[in-house]
Amino acid sequence: MKEYKRYLVTSALPYANGPVHIGHLAGVYIPSDIYVRYLRKRGRDVIWICGSDEHGVPITIKARREGVTPQDIVDKYHQIIKDSFAGLGISFDIYSRTTSPVHSRTASDFFRTLYEKGEFTEETTQQYYDEEAGIFLADRYITGTCPKCGNEGAYGDQCEKCGSTLNATDLINPRSTVSGTQPVLRETKHWYLPLDRHEAFLRGWILDEHKEWKTNVYGQCKSWLDGGLQPRAVSRDLDWGIPVPVEGAEGKVLYVWFDAPIGYISATKELTPDWEKYWKSEDTRLIHFIGKDNIVFHCIVFPAMLKAHGGYILPDNVPANEFLNLEGEKISTSRNWAVWLNEYLEDLPGKQDVLRYVLTANAPETKDNDFTWKEYQARNNNELVAVLGNFVNRALVLTGKYFDGIVPSTQELTDYDRETLAELPRLRESLENNIEQFRFREALKDAMGFARLGNKYLADTEPWKVVKSDPDRVATILNIALQITANTAIAIEPFMPFSAEKMWRMLNLEPLGWDMLGRADLLAPAHRIGKPELLFEKIEDEVIEKQLRKLEAAKAANAAANATVDAQKDAVSFDDFQKMDIRVSRIIAAEKVVKTKKLLKLTIDTGIDTRVIVSGIAEHYTPEELIGKQVLVLVNLAPRELKGIESRGMILMAADPTGKLTLIGPEGDIMNGATVG
Ligand code: 2FM
Ligand code: ZN
Repeated sequence: MKEYKRYLVTSALPYANGPVHIGHLAGVYIPSDIYVRYLRKRGRDVIWICGSDEHGVPITIKARREGVTPQDIVDKYHQIIKDSFAGLGISFDIYSRTTSPVHSRTASDFFRTLYEKGEFTEETTQQYYDEEAGIFLADRYITGTCPKCGNEGAYGDQCEKCGSTLNATDLINPRSTVSGTQPVLRETKHWYLPLDRHEAFLRGWILDEHKEWKTNVYGQCKSWLDGGLQPRAVSRDLDWGIPVPVEGAEGKVLYVWFDAPIGYISATKELTPDWEKYWKSEDTRLIHFIGKDNIVFHCIVFPAMLKAHGGYILPDNVPANEFLNLEGEKISTSRNWAVWLNEYLEDLPGKQDVLRYVLTANAPETKDNDFTWKEYQARNNNELVAVLGNFVNRALVLTGKYFDGIVPSTQELTDYDRETLAELPRLRESLENNIEQFRFREALKDAMGFARLGNKYLADTEPWKVVKSDPDRVATILNIALQITANTAIAIEPFMPFSAEKMWRMLNLEPLGWDMLGRADLLAPAHRIGKPELLFEKIEDEVIEKQLRKLEAAKAANAAANATVDAQKDAVSFDDFQKMDIRVSRIIAAEKVVKTKKLLKLTIDTGIDTRVIVSGIAEHYTPEELIGKQVLVLVNLAPRELKGIESRGMILMAADPTGKLTLIGPEGDIMNGATVG
């Protein structure tokens, strides 16, 4: 492989229209943080670039809905995102934003250069315009009836029911989702990047020269290229964005996907006056970390832009991940089905490394994966506490106990000692290999391998049993255990920087460099170690249940927001209504019906008699909550048998469209048997 002098690492710029969630973290930011921390620890020249993506239609729509300006929206979320990344130890060298003046200039100049070189084509087309909102509509903001399957909720770019790709003009009965009105067609001129002109180059560059790219990335590129590339519009009719810097472009801005990747260049300019060294030298290795929905932009469109401009290097690799689901469902910002980083940091303070660990151990590197809170708990308790925390704690506590916190010298080594120490460089090699190949899940297993090795070593050598009879042997064992501890601290640092920092403090050492990894002389005899602290704590069920309840609440709120009430039923006559005998009654006893989830057996005082009613409310009320409550009962409903119990009557309840049941009773306490009508 080519030897590079320096690394330029970028991570996809998140849209500043919401906080980041675990899907973003697992897909992009945690893997890139591990990679960059590893490179830095190896002493490589590396800079890591990121920032907020602050243009685009969704931001303007959100602002419109909330009655604020797009600038307000991006200011708010830029800060939230930036702070939460810092809170998780995501160590960008710069976290900038695409509303910065440097970026406007850079993107504008970039466009003008391509324009002047004749790298664009111009085309006038008909596009839908919302006359009430006064805006041209992006395809996603138009709905209508799908011409293929008749689905009334198809979007201007796709019908999610039959999966057809559509043009907005294909829709029958189109409506603007912004104002609800029917849009009209208007002529508009735009600039296009003719990707077809770059197809031959891209085919050679990707398909022949970058066969080492991840299968998912290479496969997606191949399928785009095999399908034939089309010109892509790089401007939009919008009042939010970077103005198109040529004559006759009033009211037009750069398409967000044109300006955003240039944001990597602008942010580098903001970071260092030496920015050209990173972007324009073939000695630099450029790597883009992204999610799978960004592959075409980073592997095809942006490289075509850079090539057309000239003078810039192209990415050497684009390690894109697949998606992470949450509790078996797709993460969704609009449905609030997500674990938001800013909320995680508030709800679970001090647990940054737990999240970093779990999301890496279960990263969607080759296929979509699922995050569950149960797995989070299990990995914390069975791996971080039981393996890593336990080993480090035992090594340090035993040194404190038997040697007063002073590193003992080794005496004679056994074959087993030697075999154990020989594992250290082997683990290092595998770890490096995996990180270099962007296989972070495997790399994390190697890093944890150091702690597993140490745990096994202590369990096998049992220093606590030999301490009385053979203190010299215990000196050797603990020296080796401490050497493994220091190795573990180096190895886990890219993955769990907070815990590594604690370990260095406990070892009373300045962090050691990567070049020391694999060695058995990291702690000199007579060195005094620091005080042992707990690295990880067991996570109890309540903590997990609270998070699950939070998700359930989000789901219920979302269902309620989207629910519509049933239409009115057919008319009934007054006489029919009069036939119903409804009475105020009191529940005097309640118990679960065995082997059912939904049924309660209720004993009711109707004022007329005492009777049993079986009711399907066990998922909404506990028996204890019900006893003593007054309710309304339809007493002359014909009796029926439910699970072998005769039920005489029906308790009246309100049912909302999400299925939630609520009892209805009289206001204040009134006489049982009072009639209702
Ligand atoms: O998909 C996204 O979240 C985009 N905001 C990523 C942009 S990456 C880069 F090109 F800026
Ligand atoms: Zn359809």
